[in-house]
Amino acid sequence: MATKVQSTEREQWSHQTGFILAAIGSAVGLGNIWRFPGVAYEGGGGAFLVPYLIALLTAGIPILFLDYAIGHRFRGAAPLAFRRMKKWTEPLGWFQIMLSFVIAVYYAAVIAWSMSYFVFSFDMEYADDPKGFFLGEYLQVGEPEISTSIVAGVAIPLVLVWVAVLVILGLGVAGGVQRVNVIGIPLLLVAFIALVIRALTLPGATDGLNELFTPDWEALSDPDVWIAAYSQIFFSLSIAFGIMITYASYQKRKANMTSSGLVVAFANSSFEILAGIAVFSTLGFLAFERGVGVGELEGLTGPILSFVTFPAVLAQMPAGSLWGAVFFGALVIAGFTSLISILLGVSASLQEKLGVSRRAAAVGVAAVCGTISVALFSTTSGLLALDTVDQWANNIGVVTSAILMAIIVIWIIRKGDELRFHLNSVSTFKVGRIWILLLGVLAPIYLSYMLIERIITLISDGYEQLPTWYLVVFGWGTIAFTVIAAFVLTALPWRNSTERFTPWPQLRHDDVKTALAGPPQSADGSTNGEIK
Ligand code: PFF
Repeated sequence: MATKVQSTEREQWSHQTGFILAAIGSAVGLGNIWRFPGVAYEGGGGAFLVPYLIALLTAGIPILFLDYAIGHRFRGAAPLAFRRMKKWTEPLGWFQIMLSFVIAVYYAAVIAWSMSYFVFSFDMEYADDPKGFFLGEYLQVGEPEISTSIVAGVAIPLVLVWVAVLVILGLGVAGGVQRVNVIGIPLLLVAFIALVIRALTLPGATDGLNELFTPDWEALSDPDVWIAAYSQIFFSLSIAFGIMITYASYQKRKANMTSSGLVVAFANSSFEILAGIAVFSTLGFLAFERGVGVGELEGLTGPILSFVTFPAVLAQMPAGSLWGAVFFGALVIAGFTSLISILLGVSASLQEKLGVSRRAAAVGVAAVCGTISVALFSTTSGLLALDTVDQWANNIGVVTSAILMAIIVIWIIRKGDELRFHLNSVSTFKVGRIWILLLGVLAPIYLSYMLIERIITLISDGYEQLPTWYLVVFGWGTIAFTVIAAFVLTALPWRNSTERFTPWPQLRHDDVKTALAGPPQSADGSTNGEIK
């Protein structure tokens, strides 16, 4: 059967601010509030800011620009954009989208918990025994096994999350995703500022901050700390997941890409550091109330930090109920705007490959991901599965994706100069050759070193004392699933022709030398009337 040429206009963000807010919405998420403070604390406190900033400058921003350049130039969600760049690279796009898919199914569960806790905050249901309440009464956590008993308290908000996803994706890029972010991000900012001010004025706040910011320089010699910093940056900026490729593909052809990227990266790290300050000042208060040192408190990382330790603080704080609602409300907004971005990547990819409508893709994605999400993560074994999948998808999957992307684009298909030309043609902040150097040389070397180190540690030491079969299924199994699914999805036929596409601005030979630094003289922003 002959494939047809897609003729419909590509959706677009309605303005630059819409794109920036949506990209900030994707970046600022549970990772900032729920992951960063704990990862920073475990990774040497104040000293962690060193690998964190190095990771941001040497890999975070360069890879963010790479994602933007690929999506904006080749105008597709990850699989289509990679395919248009070089046909055989399509599986890398699907690998990234599959990682997003895996993350979405558990990420939604944490949003569902936050929704429940937002409601519980009104009568402080968790106040008496936060740990017993979270693990026992609420999640009903059991043994590491594959449980089929669904916990209604989690399943109900989780279904609501997926219904909301369906509606927003169905409404499209400008009508749905952009609108949620234009409303959500300012709200989130207000909630955040209020939380930070409240936290800083609690007695004991300085002790908490000292704990977070007092450097433990020894941590810097531990490769696991470095890999934690890089994975945190990837997760936090939503890069190497195909998401920013997809977002950039909906940007107008003439759009200032690198400057927006800098705004997004700066906003994301600011939110992250603010969250660290808010969380640790509050922990300082808890330690002060209990008459212990902050380091003696338990549960300073992972979900326990937000859902056990934080509720314990709220229980002792004046107007804890109000602050609980603000905190968990902020988690819901931050998480939801990120979840939408993850799923837009998945649904846009399917839409383009299978030639289905936006609504059909939205229904398909919400139904499939929603069912898996409820089946796996609203059961009594949900918490453990979540932690394990998170660990592998982020520390192994995304780092691998970043390495492959850098090596393939710069060394194998040699698109570095073209992409740099592209960014510089449309943006006011020009990227120099250092960008290619960082992507092509430094990033692959140190990321590979860290990845190998991490794999060896996970194989030799296991993870959190979980049984090996469990790690094989939920850890390595997750990676195997993403790789196999990537090849299966690549093998499916494209319903629309992907061949007739000319990137804009067109790259002429002499451009390579001269135009890398400036805008193309002949650029008129017109498209050639083919696939948009
Ligand atoms: N950046 C989001 C956060 O920090 O929570 C999470 C995320 C969104 C990860 C989108 C990956 C992604 F593709």
